[in-house]
Amino acid sequence: MSDFPQSRMRRLRANPIMRDLVRETELSSNDLIYPLFVVSGNNKKLPIDSMPDCYQISIDHLENEINSISKIGIQAILLFGVPSTKDAIGSSAYTDDGVVQTAIKTIKNIMPDLLIITDVCLCQYTDHGHCGIVHSGIIDNDASLDAIKRIATSHANSGADMVAPSAMMDGQVQAIRSALDGSGFDHIPIMSYASKYASAFYGPFRDAAQSSPQFGDRKTYQMDPSNWRMALREIEMDINEGADIIIVKPALAYLDIITRARDKFPHPIAAYNVSGEYSMVKAAGSMNWLDEQNIIIEILRSIKRAGANCIITYHAKEIASHLNK
Ligand code: PBG
Repeated sequence: MSDFPQSRMRRLRANPIMRDLVRETELSSNDLIYPLFVVSGNNKKLPIDSMPDCYQISIDHLENEINSISKIGIQAILLFGVPSTKDAIGSSAYTDDGVVQTAIKTIKNIMPDLLIITDVCLCQYTDHGHCGIVHSGIIDNDASLDAIKRIATSHANSGADMVAPSAMMDGQVQAIRSALDGSGFDHIPIMSYASKYASAFYGPFRDAAQSSPQFGDRKTYQMDPSNWRMALREIEMDINEGADIIIVKPALAYLDIITRARDKFPHPIAAYNVSGEYSMVKAAGSMNWLDEQNIIIEILRSIKRAGANCIITYHAKEIASHLNK
């Protein structure tokens, strides 16, 4: 039964001021986390073909990058390292002079207040490209935890403000929590990739981070896109292991997961608007097939409307400068 004509929804849409007054979801540069790829070596700013306007940058270019990021109002970054050497156990992920460790110290020198989150995983650092330690062709969960603990602790040691484990090994949050607590880092929060799906949307990232698996795929540890109940179990486990913020990843094809997590848990939720989601928009935008800027804002709003508190997105720079104009 309709309420018409007593109710007329269009009264609240009549002009921009009225629309502003009744807006349910706001988007601000404070919500955005910008992922940054740091590559070892010098004088490098290497374009990533499948991700227009994104680069792998070397440490000596960080100062410029950090200054421009913060000038447009971005307050948090997520660091990924692209190391010069890989081995079977990913040892370059936890050396003191590793690419991420050096980047953290450099950034903290330039801009101590910029919040640095680090991705804690092995795939960029292993020669086989998997997110854990491999034994006889199998990704060995518990053997991987030891390496994951060392990575997280070395990031905290270098000055990271928050660590984000993304390997999807069972027990990784508990392992990291106890390692951090045991090293005097009980104040460092964990932003856990709790429900991370085995997604084709990560394709461009794997070019950017040079982290494609050299055999098989990630389906034995990342989630099956068909499942939502299992995502809630993953999230609940991570919360019980001490996760402070939970990540849903990817974002757009998984807005239902964000909403279900929002309904069930009081914890802050970060959504990862991943590389493939970015590349699709950039490709269509460059063809003038759609209005790129408005599409990005609509997408980011939808992620917040679904229930996310903050969004990790490669669009952060372009959108923050637009929002803060
Ligand atoms: C590392 C990691 C991946 C992403 C973030 N951390 C890749 C993967 O799991 O293959 C993907 C991010 C993106 O696509 O933007 N495990």
